[in-house]
Parts: sequence; C-alpha cells; structure tokens
Amino acid sequence: MAANARLYSARQVQALDQRTIEQGMPGFALMMQAGRAALDEIIRRWPTARRLCILCGSGNNGGDGYVVAALACQKGLDVQLLALRTPDQLQGEAADAVHLARESGVTIEDWHPDTVIPFDTDVIVDALLGTGTRGEIRPPFDSAIAGINRSGAPVVALDVPSGLHADTGALLGEAVKADLTVTFIARKFGLYTGQAPDVTGEIVLSPLSVARVALSESDHVGELLVAERLKETLPRRRPTTHKGDCGHLLVVGGQPGFGGSTIMSAETAARLGAGLVSLATASVHIPPALTRCPEMMVHEARNGLDIEALVDKATAVLIGPGLGQGAWGQGLMQTVMKADGPRLVDADGLHLLAAGYAGERRDDWILTPHPGEAAMLLDCSVAEVQADRYQAALSLHRRYGGVIVLKGAGTLVVGGEGPEACFISPFGNPGMASGGMGDVLGGMIASLLVQGLSPLEAAASGVLIHGLAADDAARDQGERGLLASDLACYARRRANPGR
Ligand code: APR
Repeated sequence: MAANARLYSARQVQALDQRTIEQGMPGFALMMQAGRAALDEIIRRWPTARRLCILCGSGNNGGDGYVVAALACQKGLDVQLLALRTPDQLQGEAADAVHLARESGVTIEDWHPDTVIPFDTDVIVDALLGTGTRGEIRPPFDSAIAGINRSGAPVVALDVPSGLHADTGALLGEAVKADLTVTFIARKFGLYTGQAPDVTGEIVLSPLSVARVALSESDHVGELLVAERLKETLPRRRPTTHKGDCGHLLVVGGQPGFGGSTIMSAETAARLGAGLVSLATASVHIPPALTRCPEMMVHEARNGLDIEALVDKATAVLIGPGLGQGAWGQGLMQTVMKADGPRLVDADGLHLLAAGYAGERRDDWILTPHPGEAAMLLDCSVAEVQADRYQAALSLHRRYGGVIVLKGAGTLVVGGEGPEACFISPFGNPGMASGGMGDVLGGMIASLLVQGLSPLEAAASGVLIHGLAADDAARDQGERGLLASDLACYARRRANPGR
C-alpha cells in the first residue's frame, strides 16, 4: 500500500510529529516547512493573488498561519493577519512564528466579532484551529468561521478546516468551507468521512520531512482507496479461463413493483465480469429482465423452496433489493441463509436480518447499509451513526460479523478491528443521490466476490469502482440526471485498468 494512502487519527499524527522532533528535526523547522508548502500551493492555484487575509488561532495551527504570513510578506504580497488571541499569548514554536511574522513586516490586527474581511481579499487562509480542537467551537472562533464563510473569497484551510473534527469528520459547530485543504505530515481520517466532503474542498497532502519509514511503521486507522490499487486487486484471467472460473452469482429479490432493483444488480454484476448471473424474482419481472439482459438466467421465485437448488449452484448470493419484508421475502431469506457460502445482504434484506430471518451473525457475508439502515441495525439514531461513521461500522462488524459497507459520502468498508480491514472511498459525487445507486453497488461487489476476491477485497474494490465510475460519468455528462444504470459501462472500463 502506498504510505501516503494511509489514514491517521489526530493523536497518531501528533505522535509522528513528536517522534520526528525527537529524532533531531526542530519543531520550528517543521512549522516552516508547513507554512512554505501551504504558500507554494496557494501561489500554484491562484498565481495572480496579491492580497491574502490570514486568520490565526492560538495553537500551532495558528503558528503555521504566522509562517505563511511571514513568507508571503517576504515575497511582496499584501498580507492582512487577523489574530483571534493576542499574539504574545502564543507559546513554543507558534511564538517563534509570531516573531518571524513581525520581523518580516506583517502587521497583526485583533479579530473582533464585527471585523469584516476586506472585499478585495484574493485568498483567505484559515489557520484558526487544527488537530488540537476540543469540543464545540467557542467564541470568538465561531464568529471568525462565519466571517470567512460569508466573505466569498477562495479559502485555503491549513491542516483541517476549522470546526471539523479531525478524527470523525463531524462538524463541531459551523466549519470553514474551504476550497483547498493543505494537510500536513499525513492524511487525517476525519478529512474523508462524516460531513468532511462538504467542507474540505480539494485535499493536498504535504508530508513535510517526516521520514517515510516513520510513516510506514506508525499506527494508522485505515486506508484511502486509490484508483491504482485496482491493477493489483482485480482477478486476472488466463488465456484458457472459462466461464466456470469466473463464478456464478445468484441475485434474489424484486417483489412485484420493485423489479428494477434486482435487474440492475444482476446486469451490473454481469458487466463487471461474473461468469454467470442468475436472477430469482417475481414472475412479472421475468420478461423485462430477459429483454434488458438476455445473458441472465431468470427464474420465478414463488417461495423459499423454489430457490434451494439455485442457491446450491451459486458461488455467492446477493439478496435484498426489492425483496420486501413480508412472507415472500422472509421465506427467500431463510432459504438463502440456510446454506453455506458468501452472501451480500442489502436493502430489505437488512431489515429482515434485524428481524431475525437471516440468523445472528456470519463471517462470510457483506452487509451494505446506508446510514438509516445502519441506525436500524444498531438500534440508534442516524445522527449517532453519522457522528462517528467508523465506530458505527465497527459496531456493526462486531455485532453481525462479516464486512460492513457503510454507504454515503466517504463510503466506509470495515471488515475487522485493525487498519488493514478499513477503507474509505474519496470518490463519488452528489449525482449519485438517485434511486438504484445502491443496487448497482451491490451488483459490483457481488460480481467481484464470485470472481474470487475475499469479501473485504470485493467490498473495497467494488466501492472504489462504483465511485470512480460515477465520477467518470459526471465528468462526461454532468451530475444532475445521473442514473444508476449509466454506471455499468464506466465501471466496466475501470474494471479493465490495463486498457
Ligand atoms: N473552540 C475554540 N478554541 C479551541 C477549541 C474550540 N472548540 N478547541 C481548541 N481551541 C483552542 C485552544 O485554545 C487550544 O490551545 O485552540 C488551541 C489549539 O489549537 P490547534 O492549533 O489546533 O492545536 P495544536 O495542538 O497547538 O496544533 C496542532 O499544529 O502541527 C500544526 O496545523 C497543524 O493541526 C496541527 C496543529
């Protein structure tokens, strides 16, 4: 795994910072590097910017801001520095940074709640709060954050947008809405989960001179999914490969009136390379399914008993989309879960699981809840799930076993306790807020599962392909109006990375 795809908690990054200092790198040198990296990024992105407005807090994040101000002033840029705390109260390296800023000719003004950021500011730098943020945002930081968000100028956040929890991605009040976040040393987990995608803008990592070996040896929380990993993870085919080598997926669901979901799951699974795809659904859906995708084998599922033989023949079963929660769905679920073999449970299947129709726990299943379904499975509120998505996914794994795919922006995959079993996808876009997106995701994951990937790897790669395909589709034709069934051809391209 690329070291820079690792995700760390704030505490783990602080330990890395400390270790680097103990090995002989002065803390102020690291702060200088952070300020320089941020200013370079600002100049690269906004080469014509002349006027910077830099808001500094009282910790080391503020110190980073004083360094940006000093270096910008030395370059001849026009700098307005607004201090949330009297600069003389700053300590350690941050106090050295204040000294450097003063020496470089930066004039420092106090922030008051009625201060207005000048209308001719080209770029605002948010150096208010970083990984040391604790609890709800207190005055006067709240008014400064609101002032930044009101101003309309582009915003660069140093390390993390102020007001965002660096571990959970929860908002601690109003958070700075950044266009760019330059994060230092290592990627913080909370930049990619919870509400973070609404406030981070583009994220650029600047590792400073923290030794690569320190990064790779350090504890971390999980891994960010990157497109390149597909080259290694997707199953390879030999010239002599035949369809029997590529797995047989059975999709079960689609009560009358809800046939589209299973048809989309099954078709997408075929498009991602499953050797054979069978669909067991209500009889009314058989003609449209065959018309849409004649490669599928479509069967009527009248009750649980009908599908026993189909379940035995399948490499894995995807159950849940359009299944309903009535007697029909209950019977099918019980039959599917009686036999061994990998399972993917989605949608109504998750409700039937909570109601006791799928057994209690299983290590070979993948559960794909959205936050509402996760809350239902955990007997808690959606807000509690979203407040700490990693903990919610881990709790689901502990309670039900298997691999959990917690959907929503920053889709999370958790299949165990350690960092090797935790992935986040930074891909996807608001165009995906439309019906059927979860059904095609299930089809993608289940397809990779029958082709021989482990449940954890199938879930991670399926989530990755899903997000990348949606971004490719949105780039081509825009986000609004993106349909779930549009993703199959883009996903197919991503699933053939050698092309
Ligand atoms: N509301 C208002 N002020 C707060 C809050 C809050 N909820 N939480 C913390 N503070 C104030 C405290 O006064 C505290 O001293 O912010 C200060 C700490 O802020 P940080 O700068 O985030 O913490 P620190 O550990 O000093 O620095 C970490 O330094 O390495 C750089 O930018 C990097 O994020 C990193 C930061």
